[in-house]
Amino acid sequence: MRKQIAAANWKMNLTKEAGKKLTEDILSAGIDLNDHRQVVFGVPFPYLSTISEKIDGRKNYFVAAQNCHFQKAGAYTGEVSAEILKSIPVTYVIIGHSERREYFNENHQMLSEKVNRCLENGLHPIFCCGEPLSIREAGEQNSHVEIQLRESLFHLSKEQLTGFVIAYEPIWAIGTGKTATSAQAQEMHAHIRNVIAANYGEEVAATVSILYGGSVKANNAMEIFSQPDVDGGLVGGASLVAGEFISIIKSLKK
Ligand code: PGA
Repeated sequence: MRKQIAAANWKMNLTKEAGKKLTEDILSAGIDLNDHRQVVFGVPFPYLSTISEKIDGRKNYFVAAQNCHFQKAGAYTGEVSAEILKSIPVTYVIIGHSERREYFNENHQMLSEKVNRCLENGLHPIFCCGEPLSIREAGEQNSHVEIQLRESLFHLSKEQLTGFVIAYEPIWAIGTGKTATSAQAQEMHAHIRNVIAANYGEEVAATVSILYGGSVKANNAMEIFSQPDVDGGLVGGASLVAGEFISIIKSLKK
């Protein structure tokens, strides 16, 4: 089975102490992950090391950065490169979250470069895509997401896309309490997999983990994750509450 992932996105929340406590509480649930299930903590840069040390030795628990710069190195005050992240070490990097696209003007070209920097450094991107409400209402969500994939990912080789992680996050469902129905999620996830299959073949498409994001909570995770093309979730608000996130981890396909 391809990787099933519960990925926390803490965004710009929690102090270092609060982050440590939350991680300890989640780990204390003692959830043993099997070979295909993973838990990822997407934490603010300053405590990537701390959280990485906390989870050290736990099988299939990893940390993610929430961003990296598209340049390799140099005079970019305040920025963090993929090479720096690799030295922490970090396993995953969230790339192209809609908040970064919207508030920091990240475009397709920048995101494709960020993906490249990650891969050059052996880091795994969690590549985010998803449509705003206006596009959904116009019924154009499939082509919108297809363009996001094509422009930022489809320069990759078959080998690079094998086992890749994508997060579909409809913007209208992020932080709004309004979740896509499991049918809407499945429909888009199947579309994403079909687009990958059309460009890279069925075999590669079958290895790509597609996470759903947007108001995933303890009480809807099981239903959403049970869809055949949904391979877990990227979770914001509910990942800040130990009990919620523990239930979400337990909702991954076994
Ligand atoms: P949410 O955020 O779970 O709070 O909706 C998800 C995300 O932005 O990754």
